[in-house]
Amino acid sequence: MSADSLPREMLITADFSELRRSVAAARHAGQIIGCVPTMGALHAGHISLMQQAHAECDFVIATLFVNPTQFGPQEDLQKYPRPFEADCDKCRVAGVDLLFHPSVESIYPPGYSTFVEVEGLTTKWEGAVRPTHFRGVTTVVAKLLNLTQPDKAYFGQKDFQQQAIIRRMCRDLDMPTEIVTCPTVRDPDGLALSSRNAYLNVTERASGLSLYRALCLARDKVRTGEKDLAAIRLAMRAEMEQTPGVAVDYATIADPDSLVELNEPQPRMVALVAARVGPTRLIDNRLIP
Ligand code: PAF
Repeated sequence: MSADSLPREMLITADFSELRRSVAAARHAGQIIGCVPTMGALHAGHISLMQQAHAECDFVIATLFVNPTQFGPQEDLQKYPRPFEADCDKCRVAGVDLLFHPSVESIYPPGYSTFVEVEGLTTKWEGAVRPTHFRGVTTVVAKLLNLTQPDKAYFGQKDFQQQAIIRRMCRDLDMPTEIVTCPTVRDPDGLALSSRNAYLNVTERASGLSLYRALCLARDKVRTGEKDLAAIRLAMRAEMEQTPGVAVDYATIADPDSLVELNEPQPRMVALVAARVGPTRLIDNRLIP
């Protein structure tokens, strides 16, 4: 089954009861339910998640919620783009059956005081730079999965640490949803798609490509037999640092499940990079088989 190119019937609701009724009806009809959580400002990366959900499930729910608890005090919550009508059209075309866009007040009513926190995995890499970010992500994703009760939920590999943390949360809390990680969608020159790319000017975008070059370099070095992972990390960092306007946060090779930095090569590894390019923070990663 592929996503239809014609606009289709899609229920749009912010109402918890209406969502629950639709989920119950789909479940009653024996349908496989897929969920794609998003914060909107949809690009081809999000669309690929919806298309995969459409191909694998009978009833696809997309959630659109700009989650305040995952933004740090200095981050761009107010500035975050909210092109609601365009997002609705994209969901419709991608084969979404129900678009759930709750209000902030309904997700976090007055007196809200429950948070979900995955320990360990959340303190390194992105967590070291954005200390409260993953607590906000796991809290909202747990709530969205409780509300939508999906068989499968779809996340992008682009946010590698996020999908690893959500996977761990579901495992630790015995949540029945299968977490599906979909490949990163890239521009033809390799830049990973991200809502943040909209903030890059032409020069910054060109500098942003150094993240992808660093990941390719890591993969090539491993492929050609380099076993010194510390040397590869230095080469990745140098590749980015020699690019004008790039301030590196980290460049590492880690275990894909524990995200612990590796000293010895192993069968499955992930190269992770993060850097500020001008005022914009970019992240990227590449699995190294
Ligand atoms: O990846 C995102 O867009 C967000 O972190 C998510 C998973 C929708 C939670 O708000």
